[in-house]
Amino acid sequence: MATILRDLSYRYQWLYDAIARVAAISVGGEARFRQLALQGLTINSDSQILDLCCGSGQTTQFLVKYSQNVTGLDASPLSLQRARQNVPEAAYVEAFAEKMPFADNQFDVVHTSAALHEMESEQLQAIIQEVYRVLKPGGVFTLVDFHAPNNPIFWPGLSIFFLLFETETAWQLLKTDLAELLTQTGFEVSKPTLYAGGSLQVIQAKK
Ligand SMILES: C[S@@+](CC[C@H](N)C(=O)[O-])C[C@H]1O[C@@H](n2cnc3c(N)ncnc32)[C@H](O)[C@@H]1O
Repeated sequence: MATILRDLSYRYQWLYDAIARVAAISVGGEARFRQLALQGLTINSDSQILDLCCGSGQTTQFLVKYSQNVTGLDASPLSLQRARQNVPEAAYVEAFAEKMPFADNQFDVVHTSAALHEMESEQLQAIIQEVYRVLKPGGVFTLVDFHAPNNPIFWPGLSIFFLLFETETAWQLLKTDLAELLTQTGFEVSKPTLYAGGSLQVIQAKK
């Protein structure tokens, strides 16, 4: 499902950003939300970082503060056009996450925020394999995305958000054990850290 609000939020970046900002209050604000998955990582100015499904650069703007080698990848030309304007310090590539035009072992960090819930399950598997391929040995895949709340108080809010803005794939992600999928691909996976009553998960997975 989803409503016209989904299309509008993709058409108007200010609307998408306003919704993200409100949602991020549950974890202490947008700056914290955008960097939650990077906690404890060693990133230096030469680290090769990929912002996978970067959208209009919402997280890229934080990644470029850590490294001068940040690449944003997205399938949407409109999002990339906005990202180039919003965060010109990064390089950008238009491609599908499940078929990335990168060499093996290229990145120290692949990060993705709020994107895996848009993928069909076969697509998700393919993306995880691609991430494994493009990461250097010892490189880390960091992600933040939805998770089934463990605090029942968070279910109504999440359900309304999904009904307004998301499609079936977001509901599917709630039933998916991402950490297990990553482990099956060969990653060494940290236990997901949960936020906002369990409705958000952060995973760091090492190749
Ligand atoms: C909800 S937005 C997230 C944007 C940004 N990462 C953020 O945190 O706000 C999801 C993004 O994934 C992109 N996307 C969806 N499917 C994709 C695919 N198969 N390959 C690459 N990008 C994809 C969309 O174009 C969109 O920009």
